[in-house]
Formats: sequence, C-alpha cells, structure tokens
Amino acid sequence: MNIQVSADAVQWTLVGAVTDIPRQGARCVKRGDMTVAVFRTSDDRVFALEDKCPHKNGPLSQGIVHDGCVTCPLHNWVISLETGSAQGADEGQTASFPVKVEDGRIYLSL
Ligand code: FES
Repeated sequence: MNIQVSADAVQWTLVGAVTDIPRQGARCVKRGDMTVAVFRTSDDRVFALEDKCPHKNGPLSQGIVHDGCVTCPLHNWVISLETGSAQGADEGQTASFPVKVEDGRIYLSL
C-alpha cells in the first residue's frame, strides 16, 4: 500500500512572535535534547537552525546575523541561515528547519 504524505501533513509548532526576537538576533527553542536557534534578519525574515555550529558545535544563536547568514561566535565560520551550510572554504552543515510566519507568529516544523 502506498501512503502519500502531503505538505499539509507537516506539523507546525507555534514558538512565539517575530517581535520576541531582536532584529539580527536569535532566540532558542528546546526540543528534547536539541536546541533550535530561531533567527530574525534585519528585514524580518525568520530562519531556524540547530544551535550547533558544524565546526565545533559553537552556539550559533550567539552569533552575528548578516546578509542571510550567521557568523559563529567561536571561530567566525559563516553559516547560511537558509540551508545551514558553511560558506566560503569551510565545509559542513547544521540542521535547518522549515519556518512559517502567520500574523506575526512563528511556527516551526521540527
Ligand atoms: S565552532 Fe563555530 S566556527 Fe568553530
């Protein structure tokens, strides 16, 4: 038997309001053992990444948000907020999670 999973089957979890996060900052959401960093860009886009740099697990939530990326506070790797991939010559990827914003509220699919 084939089971089709449609996009509507995605489970969205309300994690707060866009205004709870400072522009170019982040807030953390706990999910079991995992911490998810929810970022807000200067133009109010919202992204979610596991709060672990692909280099040595630095806390990306404490990094600097710029140009669709976050710079890790430990050794300055630059990580794409959209894909979780390290930029430039660095290699590695942290988990990224779908985000939707409705009426100023942020929902994550974890
Ligand atoms: S832990 Fe992030 S750059 Fe080293």
